[in-house]
Amino acid sequence: MAVAARIEEVRTEITALAEATPNAQELMRSMVKLLHDRMLKYNWVGFYLLEPGAVPPILVLGAFEGAMTPHTRIPLNQGICGAAASSGQTVVVDDVAKDSRYLACSLETKSEIVVPIFAHGEVMGELDIDSHFPAAFTSEHQELVQHCAMLVGKKLETAGH
Ligand code: SME
Repeated sequence: MAVAARIEEVRTEITALAEATPNAQELMRSMVKLLHDRMLKYNWVGFYLLEPGAVPPILVLGAFEGAMTPHTRIPLNQGICGAAASSGQTVVVDDVAKDSRYLACSLETKSEIVVPIFAHGEVMGELDIDSHFPAAFTSEHQELVQHCAMLVGKKLETAGH
């Protein structure tokens, strides 16, 4: 199946999943599994959420699929994850070996995308995906991952945690 068709199919499935899922925690668990199972280059898929009330703020690992990572708690001044959460911007890294911010999760990882999740206009966390393939996250993939992050943000707004 062509990549664009696969992305479209998965986007539709995830939208339906969000409609059928009552709360954000459950949605995040189902979403990481679906993305990891269906998108062949998404080799690690996980959520980090800002710990409520933590000063200074810290990202805590939530639902994920793939190998266990040593990075279960990430301050906002560290990693690609910290960069995305502190800037509120999507970060795409085509070659992690060339990015000094990168915190290694697996030696096989070649590229990464991190998309912040907003609820009520504030960053609540992020969706992080690693690939064993360089430059895996083209603009059509970015759009899919941003759609997923938006759905989780909306669920956090409507249904709480
Ligand atoms: N690579 C991330 C750390 C998380 S692991 O990839 C799961 C970073 O640089 O922030």
